Amino acid sequence: MKITSFDEYKQIYQYSVNNPEQFWAGIAETFQWRKKWNKVLEWNFTEPRVRWFDGAKLNITENCLDRHLDTIGDKPAIIWEPNDPSEDFRVLTYKQLHSKVCQFANVLKNNGAKKGDRICVYMPMVPELAIAILACARIGAIHSVVFGGFSAQSIADRIQDADCNIVITADGGFRGAKDIPLKSIIDDALVQCPSVKRVIVLTRTRTPVAMIKGRDVWWEDEVKKVETQGNIDCPAEEMEAEDMLFILYTSGSTGKPKGVVHTCGGYMVYAGYTFDTTFQYQPDEVYFCTADIGWITGHSYIVYGPLSQGATSLMFEGVPTWPDAGRFWDITDKHKVNILYTAPTAIRSLMSFGDEPLKGKDLSSLKKLGSVGEPINEEAWHWFDEKIGHGKCPIVDTWWQTENGGHMITPIAGITPLKPGYASLPLPGVQPVLVDEKGNEIEGNSVSGNLCIKFPWPGMLRTTYGDHERCRQTYFATYPNMYFTGDGCLRDEDGYYRITGRVDDVLNVSGHRIGTAEVENAINMHSSVVESAVVGYPHDIKGQGVYAFVVSPNHQDDQELARKDIIMTVARIIGAIAKPDKIQFVSGLPKTRSGKIMRRILRKIAEGDTSNLGDTSTLLDPAVVEEIKAGAL
Ligand code: PRX
Repeated sequence: MKITSFDEYKQIYQYSVNNPEQFWAGIAETFQWRKKWNKVLEWNFTEPRVRWFDGAKLNITENCLDRHLDTIGDKPAIIWEPNDPSEDFRVLTYKQLHSKVCQFANVLKNNGAKKGDRICVYMPMVPELAIAILACARIGAIHSVVFGGFSAQSIADRIQDADCNIVITADGGFRGAKDIPLKSIIDDALVQCPSVKRVIVLTRTRTPVAMIKGRDVWWEDEVKKVETQGNIDCPAEEMEAEDMLFILYTSGSTGKPKGVVHTCGGYMVYAGYTFDTTFQYQPDEVYFCTADIGWITGHSYIVYGPLSQGATSLMFEGVPTWPDAGRFWDITDKHKVNILYTAPTAIRSLMSFGDEPLKGKDLSSLKKLGSVGEPINEEAWHWFDEKIGHGKCPIVDTWWQTENGGHMITPIAGITPLKPGYASLPLPGVQPVLVDEKGNEIEGNSVSGNLCIKFPWPGMLRTTYGDHERCRQTYFATYPNMYFTGDGCLRDEDGYYRITGRVDDVLNVSGHRIGTAEVENAINMHSSVVESAVVGYPHDIKGQGVYAFVVSPNHQDDQELARKDIIMTVARIIGAIAKPDKIQFVSGLPKTRSGKIMRRILRKIAEGDTSNLGDTSTLLDPAVVEEIKAGAL
C-alpha cells in the first residue's frame, strides 16, 4: 500500500481501527485467491480462537510466483551473493524460481511428502533454502526451518515436537571462515527421531557425509529423476486460509522452545502488506535483508513478503565481517542495493571497525534503511544514518516478533517523521496498548507500561504446535482479552512508541531470542553443576550478553577448564548462539525463604550496579549476596 503523506497515514490508521474488517478485506483483495472468504474475521482472545478470511482458498506460492509470470517473469526474484566473494553470484528470475520450486515440489512428492506433513529444513543460506520452503508450501506441507546455528539436540527436540517425516539439509554450509557440517549434525539429531523416513541432501561444501541407504538421498539426483520423468510442472495444492503454512520455534521464559504456528491466508496478507507498506517498495528496487531464513525475519522479509509483492530480494550466504568488515558495503555497491534491512547488532559490530571498510564503496544506490530484532541505541542509529545512509535515507526501526508474522510498530519509509530509538507508530490495522501490572490500559501520552495488542491482525500466531494451552497461557492469560508481547514500552509526548526490552526472562543476544531457563537447563546438564541462574547484561556489540552464576563444588580444580566445559555443554545442548559470555562460580544463589531465586539481584550484579540492590530482607542467606558481589566479573 503506497501512502503519500503522514496525514494520509493518520487517516488510514483511523479507518483501520474503526473498520478493521473492511480495511483488511481491502488489503486481501490485492492478493490472488482461488476462492474468496465467507467471513473476514472471527475471534476471541480467551480460547484464543482467531480465524481470518475463513472459507477462502489459495496457495501462497501462486501469489509469490505464478501471478508474476506474465508481468515480471524475467525480473530477478532472488539475487544470491555467496559467502566467498570470489565465487559467482546467482540470479533467479521469477520464471526460473517458479520452475525450480515446481521441480523440487515434485521431488518432495516422489519422496512421499503429502499435504499436512511436517518437514524440517536445516540448510545454509543458499537459494535452495528458499526453493525448499516454497516447494513445501506448494504441496501444502508444513515447513519447520531450524537455524543452522542450533545443535543436534535442539534439532531433535524440534523434529520430535512437530513429528516431522522428512528433513531437507545440505552436506555443509559456509559461514565466514567456517564450514558447518550440517548433514553430520542432522545425523546426530536423527538418532533420536524415528519419525524421519527421508533426508534430502543438497551439495554445497562437498564435506564428506554418511549417506544412509534407504533414508538419505541427494537433492541433485532427485531433481534429475524428476527431469527424466518429464515432471516439470507442479500444480499448487489448494489450501484453506486457516491451514497451517509453517511452524517456527522460538524461546520463551519457561521450558523448551515453542512452535509458533502461522497460517496460509492471514500470514500471506500480513507479510506482503507490511513489506510493501513499511518499505514503500518501488518496482525496480533491489532489496537486501541481511537476516537468516532460519528466523522469522528471513521467512517474512526475504521470502514471502518480497516475493508476494514481486520484489527483487537479495539473499546473502555469509557474515558481515568476512573476509572483512566491508562485506555489506561491497554487496550494496556490487548489486546497487536500494533498500538495506539489517540488525542493530550488525550495525554496532561494523561501526567498531571505523571508517576504513567503507572507503571506496559506492553506497549512493541506497534509498531506505531498516533495523530489526532489538532496540537500536542512538549511537548506532546515527552511524547508520550518516555513514551508510549519508543522511538521505529514512531508517525504519521495525518492532515485531516471531508470533506477529510481520511488522507491527514501525515508521513507514519516507512518510513517518523519525526519532532515533523509536519504533514510532503502529502500522494501519495494528492496535497497541500499554497496560499496568494489573492489566489496566494506560491512556494518554508520556506513559510507560507493558505492551499488548488489543485487536487481532492477520499475521498473528494461531497456536503453539501441539499445545494450544501453552499458547493461551503465554500470550493471552496475563491480561484478559489482550495479546501480551512480553515487551516493556514507553509512549512519549507525541504518541511515539519506544520499546524498552523484555519484561520476562527472555534475553535478546545479537538479536537472537534466548530463554534464560533454557540456558540454565543446558548448564545444569553438566555433571559437576548443582544449579545455575542466567541473566542478561548490557553488551556493546550483542546488545545483551549471557551471564551465568553457577554452583559447582568441584570447580576449584581448574576454573578455566570448568568454564570451557560448561560452554561446550551449552553449545551441545542448544547451540553456539546460547554460549554464556561470563560464568561466575558461586557457592550458592540468592534465594527467598520459599526457594525462589532472586533474579533481580543477580541482574543488578551482572550489570555492575551493586550500589542499590533493593530489599534483600527476604533472603534466606544474605551472606551469599556479598560473596557474589565480591566475585562479580
Ligand atoms: O523484545 C523485542 C525484540 O525482539 C523480540 C522478538 O524477537 P523474535 O521473535 O526473535 O523476532 C525478532 C525479529 C522480529 C521482541 O519481543 N525486538 C524486535 N524488534 C525490535 C525489538 N526491540 C526493539 N526494537 C525493535 N525494532
